[in-house]
Amino acid sequence: MFYAKKQTANLIASALAELGVTEGFDENSIVTMLEYPPSPENGDLAFPCFRLSRTLRKAPPMIASDIKAKLSAGGLFEKIEQAGGYLNFYFDKTVFSDVIIKEICDKKEKYGSSDEGKGKTVVLDYSSPNICKPFHIGHLGSTVIGHSIKKIHEFSGYNCVGINYLGDWGTQFGKLMVAYRKWGNKEDVEKGGIDVLVDLYVRINHEIDGDPEHGIEGNKELADEARAEFHKLELGDPDNIELWKWFKEISLAEYEKTYAQLGITFDSYLGESFYTDKMPAQVQKLREANLLKIDDGASIVDLSDYKMPPCLILRSDGSTLYPTRDIAAAVYRHDTYDFAKCVYVTSDQQILHFKQWFKVVEMMGYDWADKLVHIPYGTISVAGVKLSTRHGNVLLLRDVFGQAVDKVRSVIEEKNPDLENKDEVAEAVGIGAIIYYYLLGSIGKSSSFVMDDALSFDGNTGPYAQYTYARTCSILAKAKQNGVSYGAADVKITSDEEFALAKQLALFPEKVKAALDGYEPSVITHYIFDAATQFNRFYHNCPVLTAEDPDTVKTRLMLTESAGHVLKSAFSLICMKAPEKV
Ligand code: ARG
Repeated sequence: MFYAKKQTANLIASALAELGVTEGFDENSIVTMLEYPPSPENGDLAFPCFRLSRTLRKAPPMIASDIKAKLSAGGLFEKIEQAGGYLNFYFDKTVFSDVIIKEICDKKEKYGSSDEGKGKTVVLDYSSPNICKPFHIGHLGSTVIGHSIKKIHEFSGYNCVGINYLGDWGTQFGKLMVAYRKWGNKEDVEKGGIDVLVDLYVRINHEIDGDPEHGIEGNKELADEARAEFHKLELGDPDNIELWKWFKEISLAEYEKTYAQLGITFDSYLGESFYTDKMPAQVQKLREANLLKIDDGASIVDLSDYKMPPCLILRSDGSTLYPTRDIAAAVYRHDTYDFAKCVYVTSDQQILHFKQWFKVVEMMGYDWADKLVHIPYGTISVAGVKLSTRHGNVLLLRDVFGQAVDKVRSVIEEKNPDLENKDEVAEAVGIGAIIYYYLLGSIGKSSSFVMDDALSFDGNTGPYAQYTYARTCSILAKAKQNGVSYGAADVKITSDEEFALAKQLALFPEKVKAALDGYEPSVITHYIFDAATQFNRFYHNCPVLTAEDPDTVKTRLMLTESAGHVLKSAFSLICMKAPEKV
């Protein structure tokens, strides 16, 4: 709609200039004032005149009619009417649709993209699981929200660096080493992969923690042993380093499978361990700036002036902590990428952590502190899925995906047994359904969903959207089969549904902009539903290949192609695949 808004604003700006209004009402600011009328009877765009009444010292309806007197319809505008304090613009359906359809068919999957971020780099830190701990449903948020925000930035012309900041350092490795040497063996781990590591990890934690409620004491010695092994690792003990690298490889191999299913790749896997030798310089800087206070032996930054608890930098034994590593990593990323923004996507349980260390970075005098952005998301729960009890009732992402794919596969077997690439399609639809359902909610809010609802082919779901996309593909394939060409056709609009679809497709670029500015993939998800619904309404009311008039056939084919491009691009922004047949 940018094009139509610009045309409308241009018209209004020149009328206002004639009325003597110049300041504050240039074309660009008028664009931002234009509104979408609630129903088509009130036009396609409306200009509210209320803000002008101060400047012009008149009532808004008078102003609206004064502006109207200076305007005449024609071109894009079929008519312009005054209604109360509004000026309503009605588009010529064919002129409007012609511009938009041709733009989409020309730009194809690039339609909706922009070069807003040209020359700017955005670093995105997301997914970032803690190695050796289960990759569970909670990670879905960071993984798909993070990747979606990355895609939206790329689509908007930013140069993006996606970083998987692996939790690959910390005392958990000491625990795992002790557990592995005590109870594990190479063969089992090679065969069972990450599950065996998680089992060992869970087992040693049980032993260390005990079960105070049932009078079972924890094993302190084991805890000390684990700490000692981690310390050896920190000092570079070759055996421990080797084991640590191996644990990391095993875990990564498992994560990679999930990332591949989601179509996600990262530009960097530099995890926490990478920053061990980069922390001392930052600790030194903090000390020199007199920001470090000793509290019970630990080094902290006092944040009471900002009404926050202190940020812990060093434990009393001199070891570093999560915030220390984050500070060092941010400095490194700034020096390496000179980012315009560095975005972190984590659960909302980490809000305080990010507030604290962002503040510390600012206090250290880094002038880029305001480029750090934290995007927290709420907790997720899924009903209708079996829990994996072996790891203490956590819902593994792998299991959620696996069960969704199985269910879709059985639907395909039943309804469309001859479909080619059944497995691929079942995976695209099953996983797409989970992502779609999850990304429907605003990211700050907690979400819960029922598996069967997410997998439904009706309503606001991924399968419904993918099915609609496949429908656009099959219409175009049939046209091709029948030898109907429609490339340079003249657009001719004869029904409300055609026009409504063109209008819906015209909204895509501004939805991308809203999703970008708000770090909010759900804007795209909701848009997909609106666009799919509008396409289906068009499809049910407007025969495409069997329309009588050849120009109508061509127009409808171009509309179908346009809808397909927009849906496919929008899917890719929320990490959902677009199979051509479902
Ligand atoms: N590994 C952390 C976790 O699973 C998330 C890391 C987020 N990124 C960061 N730079 N702190 O909780």
